[in-house]
Amino acid sequence: MSGAVSLSTMLAVLTAVVFTGLLLDYLAIIRRPWRPGLMLALGGFGLGLGLILCAVLPGSQVFGPVAVGRPLAEKVVALTFDDGPYPPYTGQVLDILRENRTVATFFLIGANVVKYPELVRRIAAEGHQLGNHTYNHSDLLKLGREQIAAETDRAGTVIAAIAGERPHVIRPPHGFRDPLVLDVLERQGLRVIEWSVASRDWTNPGTDAIVGRTLKEVKSGSIILLHDGDGVEAAAPRMQTVEAAGRIIRHLKAEGYRFVTVDELLGNH
Ligand code: NI
Repeated sequence: MSGAVSLSTMLAVLTAVVFTGLLLDYLAIIRRPWRPGLMLALGGFGLGLGLILCAVLPGSQVFGPVAVGRPLAEKVVALTFDDGPYPPYTGQVLDILRENRTVATFFLIGANVVKYPELVRRIAAEGHQLGNHTYNHSDLLKLGREQIAAETDRAGTVIAAIAGERPHVIRPPHGFRDPLVLDVLERQGLRVIEWSVASRDWTNPGTDAIVGRTLKEVKSGSIILLHDGDGVEAAAPRMQTVEAAGRIIRHLKAEGYRFVTVDELLGNH
């Protein structure tokens, strides 16, 4: 058995610490001169907030290593598209990538892979990298060890059955992970990929906003997060992202950038 602890377990312990501290303070058992009970409660609360940030911030390495790009002298970036396949947007993204002779990495949701296998075959056939984004786009922080393993293994299996190759990179839904999640993924041989540039395109803030935010943050070695899909429900349009992707690619190419897969960016070749 591994000793990897989930965020929810850590927060449960800290909640107990906070209540114990508050109780000590209330009972005034050891109150003066500096209210240690209250200090204990505040410390537990602050540590809990810090741990939550470690689980949700894409760049945090506290719970274990995750890839967020790397500083490179050469002008290269990796475009990543999450939550697909999702017609018609995934096909439109593929058209734009082909027109610009550009590759990208697609983090696919297993349930969508089963619905649109022809799009998965096209992604693979056109030289893009395929990544795992779980089967149901579940928040892995809410699952136990077996459920996490099932979510990711099932997605890997359906992608392999259709594309012929099992992804060795994964992006957990929302980028959320804790020591338990990272332990399960490592045992499955999956490398965790987060991102360094996010335009919040999933909120459909307008094509100009997606392009502007991305170009403002991007630099050599960036991993850019975009969405050609919309979870499992697949209700929101992704036209803005499709248009923005074309503009981002043309702009960065004019500046001398080259687009590579996540593997190539991280030097996994
Ligand atoms: Ni997602």
